Amino acid sequence: MIANRKDDHVRFAAEQQRRPDGHNQFDDVSFVHHALAGIDRTDVSLTTRFGGIEWPVPLYINAMTGGSAKTGLINRDLAIAAQETGVPIATGSMSAYFADDAVADTFSVMRRENPKGFIIANVNANATVDRARRAIDLMEADALQIHLNSIQETVMPEGDRAFSSWGPQIGRIVAGAGVPVIVKEVGFGLSRETLDRLRDLGVTVADVAGSGGTNFARIENDRRDRADYSFLNGWGQSTPACLLDAQGAGIPVLGSGGVRHPLDVVRALALGASAVGASGLFLTTVLDGGPPALIALISGWLDQLRSLMTALGARNPAELTRCDVLISDGLRDFCADRDID
Ligand code: FNR
Repeated sequence: MIANRKDDHVRFAAEQQRRPDGHNQFDDVSFVHHALAGIDRTDVSLTTRFGGIEWPVPLYINAMTGGSAKTGLINRDLAIAAQETGVPIATGSMSAYFADDAVADTFSVMRRENPKGFIIANVNANATVDRARRAIDLMEADALQIHLNSIQETVMPEGDRAFSSWGPQIGRIVAGAGVPVIVKEVGFGLSRETLDRLRDLGVTVADVAGSGGTNFARIENDRRDRADYSFLNGWGQSTPACLLDAQGAGIPVLGSGGVRHPLDVVRALALGASAVGASGLFLTTVLDGGPPALIALISGWLDQLRSLMTALGARNPAELTRCDVLISDGLRDFCADRDID
């Protein structure tokens, strides 16, 4: 049952990538061009630090899959690309492993292929501390992600309908995990109010995982004959909106959801993300061309990211927040409605 769901998610997410729809709010973010701002490429470092974590690059492969034979092969290929390029990588939700030990290898293959890399294990907010620890142990994980997906669960007929325990459970997992805990959405975004709550629960890093890319309301509606909740297909805040909302929240944030190219990476970093993740695009790249295609894509992005930082005068990712950015259209309206300067 879980295995079928995992295969469906991959299939529908790949279809969405191949037929993107609607406006992407990253296009409402542009840089004021300063012709004399540039520095020397040799002075640019991609290293990023946040919440006690240091990564050599501000880019990562975000949570996707595992739990079926097919998704085990995808995890192997993603992990090979992570190993070759040095980007951190997250597993998909490890609920399938808690339900059936036999699928352990569809996750642990990522550690085998990427023995020295930064790996993040992924669990849901119902996970017990014991299960979170089992996930971390299996992956020899450097960090843990907890995903929040109330809208996805709502669209799924078999999904959870009880969410009140999530907050307290996050607090317990943070206290008992033994590694840094990153709380993320799955493509509907984290609001400022949610970030405040996470900070109060002791969470030290949040990934806003906003809308604009893979859309799990659409995926869950498409998985069944009757798309009962199709009116939720436009739910949530975009990634740039969440990053603007997060400013001054007192918790480091990562930016993911709808990232299409290195300019979106730079835009997210300029809006305050400490690092930027992508899922759906990296998935289709590896499905179409295997690890060599994903290695080429990520290497190209890192090279172009360094070039853009050179032209913008940012010696490290954090310095991008000093750039002058212009916010237009729907994103500007969002800022006005939320009293964001
Ligand atoms: C996901 N995502 C996800 N997130 C999570 O925390 N646990 C999970 O198990 C999954 N599963 C999953 C499967 C597939 C096939 C995709 C494409 C994505 C959500 C993912 O981490 C991310 O938040 C969203 O996909 C938005 O980013 P993109 O795809 O727009 O870059």
